[in-house]
Amino acid sequence: MTSESEPNIRFRRVLLVGFMGAGKSAVGEHLARQLGWRFRDFDQEVARRIGLPVHRIFEDYGEEVFRIQEERIAVELLGADRAVLSSGGGWPCRRGRMEGLSQSTLSVWLRVSPEVAVERCRQSGAVRPLLEGDDPVAAATALLEERRVFYEQADWSLDSTAGDPEFLAERLARQIRTDPERPIRE
Ligand code: S3P
Repeated sequence: MTSESEPNIRFRRVLLVGFMGAGKSAVGEHLARQLGWRFRDFDQEVARRIGLPVHRIFEDYGEEVFRIQEERIAVELLGADRAVLSSGGGWPCRRGRMEGLSQSTLSVWLRVSPEVAVERCRQSGAVRPLLEGDDPVAAATALLEERRVFYEQADWSLDSTAGDPEFLAERLARQIRTDPERPIRE
């Protein structure tokens, strides 16, 4: 990492939030590469530490056990420097989570329509327990509506419905480097 390419900003980390299928992990990996920072994904860390995929933690121990582990990981990772973090879709959606983020964390909401979210989750093959019912689009629509109030608290927001993850990451990286105090809302 050269000093020219190191963004001169007050943010120490970027936190991507948003619904399942918004592209948080894909955009996060590209963004980390472009900034020369490391990438960490809350779900991957929980799965690694418990030794089970997230959907199995839901099945075997219940959602609340997953949420407790998820918050433990979040507290740790939100102290990391020079890191791009991808939260699970549900992490921001408890009172105090978004409000509690430090000034040195740039939060970005990746927006996605329920239809595209469900399609991406289906294609990815990773089981999302909260979208496993008979009508996943209806479930996603209702859940997204409930969660919007939390996601909206992010510093920036970017529509990922039609966007290619690398292109979205470039958009974020460019703004972080050139004008980080001007929020992206597009
Ligand atoms: C969840 C989102 C998932 C995972 C779990 C619950 C949620 O992560 O944490 O299935 O409540 O929205 P992704 O947003 O990475 O799919």
